[in-house]
Amino acid sequence: MENKVLTPGLSDAMVRVTELAAIAASREVGRGDEKKADAAAVDAMRSAFNAVDFKGRVVIGEGERDEAPMLYIGEEVGTGTGPEIDIALDPLEGTTLTAKAMANALAVLAIAPRGGLLYAPDTYMDKIAIGPGYPEGLVSLDEAPSDNIKALAKAAGRKVEDMTVCVLDRPRHQDIIDSLRSAGARISLISDGDVAGVIATTDAATGIDMYVGQGGAPEGVLAAAALKCVGGQMYGRLVFRNDDEKKRAARTGITDFGKTYSLHELASGDTVFCATGVTNGTMLSGVAHKDGRVHTHTLVMTSMDGMVRYVRSARKV
Ligand code: FBP
Repeated sequence: MENKVLTPGLSDAMVRVTELAAIAASREVGRGDEKKADAAAVDAMRSAFNAVDFKGRVVIGEGERDEAPMLYIGEEVGTGTGPEIDIALDPLEGTTLTAKAMANALAVLAIAPRGGLLYAPDTYMDKIAIGPGYPEGLVSLDEAPSDNIKALAKAAGRKVEDMTVCVLDRPRHQDIIDSLRSAGARISLISDGDVAGVIATTDAATGIDMYVGQGGAPEGVLAAAALKCVGGQMYGRLVFRNDDEKKRAARTGITDFGKTYSLHELASGDTVFCATGVTNGTMLSGVAHKDGRVHTHTLVMTSMDGMVRYVRSARKV
């Protein structure tokens, strides 16, 4: 059950990293400036990483080196002593949610021993995810959304009418929405934040049974790292809009552009996943200031032992 690289001390350090990124981003909640909110989170996350004794390498980051000044793909972080770790990060998942003070903005990261996370390019990814307890391959990106939700309802012993599917509210998803509605399922449309949307499938309290649709590939790897810890199934397939995106993928070592990745290919190694709420959300409270302290709420999960822990912290402002 142990992983000698992903120690409890390292996962505690990662909690601090997402806490500090969320606190920095929270100062920009509701101020209408997505870039400023993102920059604050990136800066804080990078400083926090650099206080940790590890040889961290960003594999899923803010972009390629020439377009992201900090936390770009390939950037090395940490003090440079300690274990060699790959990092997938999104210092602010939901920049628009933050700028508009809407629910479910997160500071999020996942770590794994070197090579344990797919080096996904910054393209879109078709995704489908369900929670734990179902036979492997019950849902598939190759089946119609209506057939997937019918199969899931049957396996769950429930009516399709009582099943809820989370979908990003985008015009490109109209066919998916139509297909799900034709089956009679309920749809929970979200404006942003599909990492939270995927994770919601693992927690019955959220009422979300399935996630389907096209979102960011980096967010796909982060969500897979979370599901790896808590169980559930996810499949992802990269979507390329032009040759430049294919070149980006080739630079990350991807050769099969049509491949469907399973959860265990998106996150093949042991992982630690951390998310701190920036704004209040389905599973996490947002950053709150009271009694001269700043309060944070973090979800930390480890795949080695399937641990799921919620951490509430308060520190002086
Ligand atoms: P930001 O953090 O950049 O605002 O992205 C949020 C997000 O909603 C992701 O959760 C999702 O994967 C992606 O954007 C969807 O992209 P698009 O907005 O282009 O449909």
